[in-house]
Amino acid sequence: MKSNALLSLLSDREIHSGESLAQTLGVSRTAVWKHIRKAIAEGTNIRTIRGQGYQLVSDLDLIDRDTILGELDPVTREQIQLAVLDEVDSTNAEVARQLATTRCPVVLSDCQTSGRGRRGRNWTSPKGQNLYLSLGLSIRGGFAALDGLSLVLGVAVANAIERAGGSGIGLKWPNDLFVEGQKFGGILVEIQGELQEGYVQIIAGIGINVHMTHADEVDQPWTSLARRWPDRAWSRNQLASKMIREILLAVTEFESGGFQRFRDRWQQRDVFSGLALVTRDGKLHGVGAGIDSTGNYLLSTESGVVPVRAGDISLRVSK
Ligand code: BTN
Repeated sequence: MKSNALLSLLSDREIHSGESLAQTLGVSRTAVWKHIRKAIAEGTNIRTIRGQGYQLVSDLDLIDRDTILGELDPVTREQIQLAVLDEVDSTNAEVARQLATTRCPVVLSDCQTSGRGRRGRNWTSPKGQNLYLSLGLSIRGGFAALDGLSLVLGVAVANAIERAGGSGIGLKWPNDLFVEGQKFGGILVEIQGELQEGYVQIIAGIGINVHMTHADEVDQPWTSLARRWPDRAWSRNQLASKMIREILLAVTEFESGGFQRFRDRWQQRDVFSGLALVTRDGKLHGVGAGIDSTGNYLLSTESGVVPVRAGDISLRVSK
């Protein structure tokens, strides 16, 4: 039984007896009880009422394939192959597996057991709380055309979040998503390989903290959409559909017009601009001065403006 099937039945917030749940789902009452216990352990607020059954006592934000497809325009819907999973190691890894046989796979999962972040870090991926979304994309133009693509994706994701109700979304070079000085999302771009006819296959993985309120293992200031905007009813389905659409539109524009078209849009969200910065190895100090035409970050130093390349060097605010 899929645990989300049980939660869907409870989502009307009525009391359901163990027997009726078991009957509807075609499993034993013991199986229902085990799933209820697991859901409670994972943080879902379910009340057990003696002699009556189970009741969900807080709102749920379930991810659902049909809902996401229903929110997409027909053109976008036709372009993608969407899979919505209860659990996966990493949505990026799943897209990599699907790319061999599927055109434009898009994978969303309720949780990840081995979520990956940039620079070999783990990505905290608890169940039912956040957005874990990956897209397998074929980009026209070969490896040389990929400069700046990860920044373009940052612009697309920031736009999608603002369309869903956020505001003032900042980008920390190259593509960390920030609001009021705290990270709430990140993007991991992995190159899968070069295809024939000048196309490159990439995997774009997006992680957004949506409802998360606790994460002891995260070692930097962080937030989530629900923490920053607690009065909004954040919907992961709506965020996913807006992101898929914005990303596909941005990639089409990037393929035809290049990074140049996105440079100003990225710079308007630059959280480093005007700040005293230092490269992570501590060797280069300067003031944040935006990006160049290929997406390198520019440091204004005593000896002139120096471009810093994503992947080679990372930056932090100097103390
Ligand atoms: C970062 O380090 O800031 C990038 C984090 C990217 C996390 C997302 S979650 C969906 C996709 N699957 C993964 O394993 N990683 C990315």
